[in-house]
Amino acid sequence: MQASGQNVVAVAGLHKNYLDGNNTVEVLKDLSFALAAGKSLAVTGPSGSGKSTLLNILAGIVQSDAGEVTLTLGEHHFAVHTATERQNTAMRRMHMGYVYQFFNLVPTLTVLENVRLPARLNQRRDLDTAAVDLLQDFGLGGRLSVFPEVLSGGEQQRVAVARALLLQPPLILADEPTGNLDAANSAHVADLLFETAQQLEVSVVVATHSEAVAARADHHLHLLAPGQVSLT
Ligand SMILES: Nc1ncnc2c1ncn2[C@@H]1O[C@H](COP(=O)(O)OP(=O)(O)O)[C@@H](O)[C@H]1O
Ligand SMILES: [Mg+2]
Repeated sequence: MQASGQNVVAVAGLHKNYLDGNNTVEVLKDLSFALAAGKSLAVTGPSGSGKSTLLNILAGIVQSDAGEVTLTLGEHHFAVHTATERQNTAMRRMHMGYVYQFFNLVPTLTVLENVRLPARLNQRRDLDTAAVDLLQDFGLGGRLSVFPEVLSGGEQQRVAVARALLLQPPLILADEPTGNLDAANSAHVADLLFETAQQLEVSVVVATHSEAVAARADHHLHLLAPGQVSLT
C-alpha cells in the first residue's frame, strides 16, 4: 500500500517489544506503512498480534522502542514518537477520535452529554446542535437524555462513534469497535463509521477480527507475526 497525496499516517521502521519478566516479547518489528487522507485501513491479525499496541502507538498512548510515527491532522504535523505525553494528549483531544471495543461512555453523563464531551473539552459550544443532528442521523434522536446503561450494546457503540466524529477529526482510531456486538449491530455500527467517515473525509484505522468489517476498509494491514505483515 503506497499512499499517494497527503498522508494522514506515516509509520517508518516501527519496533515494539514488551518485557515479560526476563523475557522480551517482540510485538512489532520494522513496520512501515502510510495512509492517505480520507482513506480507511483495517488492522487484522490473531489475538496478541499487536493490533491494540499499534493503535496505541499511533495515538501516542504507548511509546515505541524505535521508528517514526508522523501524523498530519488537518494543518498540523505531529511527530508522535518524539512528542511529550502532554503534547500527545492535546493532539488526541483536539485532532483525533478514538472508539473502543467496550464503548467507554461516561456512565454519569446522558447520551447527548457524552457526544458533546469532546466538543466541550475544546470549548466548542457551537457544536451543540451538530451533536443532536448526528445522534438523529444515527437513529438515537429519541435517546438523547437517557444514560448509557439503559442502551443496548449496539446503541452504546453508535453513541461512541458519534462522539468520536463530532469534532470531525481528520483521523479516527477504532479498536475492535464491533468486537462486542452481534452481527446485525456490528454491520450497523460499521455502516455508520465508514459511511460517515467517508462523507466527512475522516481517515479511519480500525483493528478488527471481523472479516465483514475489514472488507469495508480501503486497505488492509494483516499482522501475522513480528516482522511478518501483509499490506494491501
Ligand atoms: N503492557 C503490556 N505489557 C506486557 N505485554 C504486553 C502489554 N500490552 C500488550 N502486551 C503483549 O503484547 C502482545 C500484543 O498485544 P496486543 O497489542 O494487545 O494485541 P491484540 O490487540 O492484537 O490482541 C501480546 O503478547 C500481549 O500480551
Ligand atoms: Mg487488542
